[in-house]
Amino acid sequence: MVTKTKAEPEQASERARLDKIINKYRKQKGALIPILQEAQDSLGYLSEESLFYIAKATKRTLAQVYGVTTFFTQFRLEPIGEHLVRICHGTACHVGGAEDIDATVCGHLGLSEEGGTTDDMEFTVDKVVCVGACSLAPIMIVDGVAHGRLNADRARKVIKGYQKEK
Ligand code: FES
Repeated sequence: MVTKTKAEPEQASERARLDKIINKYRKQKGALIPILQEAQDSLGYLSEESLFYIAKATKRTLAQVYGVTTFFTQFRLEPIGEHLVRICHGTACHVGGAEDIDATVCGHLGLSEEGGTTDDMEFTVDKVVCVGACSLAPIMIVDGVAHGRLNADRARKVIKGYQKEK
């Protein structure tokens, strides 16, 4: 009798998602970066298994694929929290107080000002460059939803709105 581990269905669904992305770019030469971007969007981060799978499916070595992910800072090789908070540090947001917002949000979540992921895996905070909504500066994006014209207090309130009751 074949026993299944708990992780297998999830791995199967991850493989199916990766196959769909890889197939989409099958005829495009040199499409490794969009494949990795879409894989990250779909899976949240690029695990070693997913990099290995992408390398095999695109006939590259793991070192080649890994090299691309470590060259570009947009790629994430560690799991992220349940909520992804991206604080814009482009010029307009910087002038509007992004540093204050960053310090307040990170301080509220118990993170260093570099951001990162909370121990309970509830939040990941990232600094990003201009997200293209300068008229709403300063801005932060939580789980894809933009919160603009912030100040430190409003940013803290936004984060509290996403926090689980404890
Ligand atoms: S600088 Fe933040 S949206 Fe442009």
